[in-house]
Amino acid sequence: MKRTLGVCYYPEHWPEAQWAEDAVRMADLGLTWVRIGEFAWKRMEPVEGTYDWGWLDRAIETLGAAGLRVVLGTPTATPPAWVVAKHPGMLPVDAEGRVRGYGSRRHYCFSHAGYLAECRKIVTALAKRYGPNPHVAAWQTDNEYSCHDTVLSYSDAARTAFHDWLRGQFPGPGNDGDIDALNAAWGNVFWSMDYDDFDQIGLPNLTVTEVNPAHAHAFRRFSSDQVVAFNRAQVDIIRAHSDAPIAHNYMGRITDFDHFKVGADLDIASWDSYPLGFLEDRSGADDAHKRAYARQGDPDFQAFHHDLYRAVGRDGRWWVMEQQPGPVNWAPYNPAPLPGMVRLWTWEAFAHGAEAVCYFRWRQAPFAQEQMHAGLLRPDSVEAEAFGEATEVMAELKDAPDVAMAQAPVAIMFDYDADAAWAVQPHGVDLSYFGLVFAWYRACRKLGLSVDILPPTTRDFAGYALVMVPGMMHMPDDLKAALNDAEGQIIIGPRSGARDPHFNITTPLPPAWPGSDLVVSRVQSIRPDLPIALAGGGQVEGYLEQIEGGGEVVLRTEDDAPVAVQCGARVTYMAGWGDDVAHMALIRVVAPELAVTDMPKGVRRRATGSEVFWFNYTTQAVEIEGQDVPPAGILRKVLSHVS
Ligand code: GAL
Repeated sequence: MKRTLGVCYYPEHWPEAQWAEDAVRMADLGLTWVRIGEFAWKRMEPVEGTYDWGWLDRAIETLGAAGLRVVLGTPTATPPAWVVAKHPGMLPVDAEGRVRGYGSRRHYCFSHAGYLAECRKIVTALAKRYGPNPHVAAWQTDNEYSCHDTVLSYSDAARTAFHDWLRGQFPGPGNDGDIDALNAAWGNVFWSMDYDDFDQIGLPNLTVTEVNPAHAHAFRRFSSDQVVAFNRAQVDIIRAHSDAPIAHNYMGRITDFDHFKVGADLDIASWDSYPLGFLEDRSGADDAHKRAYARQGDPDFQAFHHDLYRAVGRDGRWWVMEQQPGPVNWAPYNPAPLPGMVRLWTWEAFAHGAEAVCYFRWRQAPFAQEQMHAGLLRPDSVEAEAFGEATEVMAELKDAPDVAMAQAPVAIMFDYDADAAWAVQPHGVDLSYFGLVFAWYRACRKLGLSVDILPPTTRDFAGYALVMVPGMMHMPDDLKAALNDAEGQIIIGPRSGARDPHFNITTPLPPAWPGSDLVVSRVQSIRPDLPIALAGGGQVEGYLEQIEGGGEVVLRTEDDAPVAVQCGARVTYMAGWGDDVAHMALIRVVAPELAVTDMPKGVRRRATGSEVFWFNYTTQAVEIEGQDVPPAGILRKVLSHVS
């Protein structure tokens, strides 16, 4: 497959007289894709029921005539003022009970029936008009579900929809649901929380103290399902009018809806990669790390999402829909990328299987919220720094062999439902499921391993030497059985199998592993400044369980308490949140047959089916495989067994 480049473009931001020149410059640069339309509802439907397609017809024609392929976005992330005036109840409500107002974007509640009807209307009109257009080669639904914390809404609309959803979860006679079943499943006898009727159930905010975790978890599951339904409504409409593939652009470290479930309705997964913004505002890294990688981004954060979204995309199809091209406007600090990083980020995406990488955005806007956000062009249309790097990538793509995907030697399971469970009950400040899985991912990468991410529905683990399933709080029995039967080694824990589907501690006590007497007899979270040292190096940070039973102890504390033990012929239970040293040590011990290498600091390796790439995320030249690789440099070697 030919890997391609693209750009995000807003024709409505620029005089029409400029479009043709822009299109020619995009084509001259070698771009294939141009994504447009995703925020232009007001231009498409200025007043209710009156559509203005003329400008969009001409924009698509101009771009298409230059040889570009259009990705057309549905504009539902930016409902215009007239929509909000018509449906004031559509505005989302935050956990403090405050209405989140009009004046930016994503100001809608996924549960509001009136808003959904407006969305169906505009998407139908758009899909009917442009479904047959030969230049429209792909679609994007909405824009970044959940960005700006917009999945959980505590509105009246959400409350009513939550009741209906709960009735479906606890079916009873007629459409009434079985409230006794809900009370029993949630343990509502505690604090006299039993309900007489579903309509009495509130949303899990504004309670005097902690809400029942089963209630909070159910609300997160419901909210996730609302996103799935919202997206599906658009997909169904688009498919009725177009054969072009449909994508959504997901975000970095946004986990509060199940991307696998949304992805099942789409053809392509894509995500928006802003390495420098993410390092500052969501990597969870300490200041020293942020200083060291301020202009390069975290060495693992992008790769993790590339691997995650490869798993989310149907048949592994995925793109970077928005690639940071220079300083952004929204992080606490917004430095310029080190020269070479835009090229590095682009190639890293291709090395992980991206079909396309699109830069955000074509030209920096001189107005409104993102006027401090770089583009490929400056506001005066002169080329910005990233333009040169995109040109370089284009030239390289012409000669480079295609990137062949291959199964990685190791896999990590990622479960959005477990992420929700940890969010409800982290048990310690800053403990998160994402953080735990990412820690395991980083340990693999520091050992030079390429990783596949697996959805929680995976039951076939053939071909993996090692599969890690940390922190998956509810583990269905058939998953446990499949892991027990896998041919490779398995690492589970901490907190794997800790709860039943309704957030109750299981008895026999967790992890209730088939064929093992291992039990987690006590759990504790630990202050970050009180780590527990492990015998042989490394430490446990933040969380450690006390375990009893099980087989051979493979990792213990300096005080001789077991930390990792066998609970199956090839299954190891890890009872704590280790640091990188501990995780790397455990991987080496558990799967000695893996070919691991300690990577130089800030260098990462990615093996594809035909090549090995090394990415230098440091500010220094680094010697890799006997060659000097400059800062932000890439080394690429074709594997010898491939002709
Ligand atoms: C993304 C978003 C874009 C733009 C960009 C700025 O999250 O999808 O519309 O706002 O951030 O970095």
